[in-house]
Amino acid sequence: MENTIENLLHEVKSFSAKTKQDLESFRLKYISKKGAIGELFENLKQIPADQKKQFGKILNELKQAAEAKFTELNDKLQSSSEEKTNIDLTLPPVPNKVGNLHPLTLTKNRIIEIFERLGFNVADGPEIEDDWHNFSALNFPDNHPAREMQDTFFIEKKNAEGGDVLLRTHTSNVQIRLLEKQKPPVRAIMPGRVYRNEAISARAHCFFHQVEGLYVDRNVSFADLKQTLFHFAKEMYGKDIKLRLRPSFFPFTEPSAEIDVTCLICKGEGCVVCKRSGWVEIAGAGMVHPNVLRNCGVDPEEFTGFAFGMGIERVTQLRYQVNDLRLYSENDIRFLRQFHTEGTA
Ligand code: DAH
Repeated sequence: MENTIENLLHEVKSFSAKTKQDLESFRLKYISKKGAIGELFENLKQIPADQKKQFGKILNELKQAAEAKFTELNDKLQSSSEEKTNIDLTLPPVPNKVGNLHPLTLTKNRIIEIFERLGFNVADGPEIEDDWHNFSALNFPDNHPAREMQDTFFIEKKNAEGGDVLLRTHTSNVQIRLLEKQKPPVRAIMPGRVYRNEAISARAHCFFHQVEGLYVDRNVSFADLKQTLFHFAKEMYGKDIKLRLRPSFFPFTEPSAEIDVTCLICKGEGCVVCKRSGWVEIAGAGMVHPNVLRNCGVDPEEFTGFAFGMGIERVTQLRYQVNDLRLYSENDIRFLRQFHTEGTA
């Protein structure tokens, strides 16, 4: 009996299974109740009592070896069949998708490109701002409605210096920051994000983007402003674009104007975007108010300047015919991917 056990142990250890059937015949032959090992256990009953212990021990070892072998073979077969089903070496490779710039970034970059060629620098300012830079220095009277809660996100009422802290409502704050530290001539554009306490809809959002423009020097005139913006519109939208200035009011400019361009969604025919007028407003502008220059320590008798503030979303909407402002911040890959071929322009 000892020999039989030895032989069986050898067989079990050297067994190899290529298929599930091989494994099943291994199980039937050795492990199942009626298999070879089961039979030996049956035979154990006839062994004299004094040898039972010794045979029982080696028989148990055989049984454990067979079971371990079964598990090992089973694992091997399973993992190799998984590999087979998961990897198809004949498939063509899946190309790596390269990301692309956001449409607002593409537009911002294009705006910078156009103004840089006119000699404008790019300047930057904080999004968390104090009342002085966002309102007071820009000649907003104390009771101006733009300071009210429905427009401005206040962070802190009355900081250490006694002014409110808020999220800037426009990029015009950077005009002040710039003029405080740099004496004219100043020629800069200032792109950035701004915040307003508005209900989100297709036409309004609680945050959006602007590019501020500022040119302060001796003898800067309204004609310079008009030509600069006209040049910009032609570079951005093509030479057939028309520009229109409407009289307007801003506390920080005098005179002030709103700048319209031909609606590119309907080519001037009239549609929902331009409210059937054929024109779309892209910016507010004007001659820098003498009080603003004075607030920054610039003598308005010596220097004049123009300023403008442009909505990047609006410029982008006309460029790519996007009708819903919400698309810009929803991160829907189906929307964003459409700007892929633009490269990094
Ligand atoms: N800050 C204005 C706004 O957010 C836009 C604006 C108008 C900016 C006229 C200017 C300007 O610099 O001259 O509505």
